Amino acid sequence: MREKLLHDLNNRYATKKFDSTKKVSDDDFQLICEALRLFPSSYGLQPVKFIIVKTESIRLELQKAAFGQAQISEASHLIVLCALDSISHNDVDDHVKLLADTREIEVEKLVGFGTQIKGSIEKMSEENMQIWNDKQAYIALGQLLHTCAVLHIDATPMEGFSKSEFDRILNLKDQNLHSVLACPIGYRSEDDAYSKIKKARKSMNALFEIR
Ligand SMILES: Cc1cc2nc3c(=O)[nH]c(=O)nc-3n(C[C@H](O)[C@H](O)[C@H](O)COP(=O)(O)O)c2cc1C
Repeated sequence: MREKLLHDLNNRYATKKFDSTKKVSDDDFQLICEALRLFPSSYGLQPVKFIIVKTESIRLELQKAAFGQAQISEASHLIVLCALDSISHNDVDDHVKLLADTREIEVEKLVGFGTQIKGSIEKMSEENMQIWNDKQAYIALGQLLHTCAVLHIDATPMEGFSKSEFDRILNLKDQNLHSVLACPIGYRSEDDAYSKIKKARKSMNALFEIR
């Protein structure tokens, strides 16, 4: 298991060229979606939405807005990770209800928790709330990349795109959403040179400090 973990993490890379003839099976894609659903977030609020773009013409439009990066249209599946523009008191109440229903406890017992969350979000400026929500999408990306690595499905984490163009193409503003990341997933092309290059990473000493 230890060797497999390291093997999978070394085997994954930001795929530059997908084999567009190879498709991720429905079963595997469902598993990936379930792994995404399980991502952890601050207070468990999950202020995100994952948009799966299937329509070819939309993917081509998004590709243009991503400096032409071919992975957007050539990968088997494209997931756009979006975050909420703002979190309302209603959203917090919905979350508290979800917790109560799931854990079969009375909503009244969670009123304090709800009030605490509302207190935190009220202190945030509009901009800081967006940044906070965006961070949650990055956590989801980590979970997505790791899940794909374990399944030997290739993926490209992407923030190299025009967010305003993505938002316009996907009509996100109307849904209180904005795009944060894109992640095409599928199978690497055999002639993707990036799959053969060595990983460059800082040394343990440079990255860790013991105090
Ligand atoms: C948040 C994030 C955004 C990235 N954006 C892009 C991108 O737009 N296009 C791309 O080809 N690679 C993108 N990358 C890939 C990184 O360049 C790559 O992960 C890094 O160089 C390490 O290489 P590896 O993932 O192949 O090990 C992104 C990675 C992350 C984590």
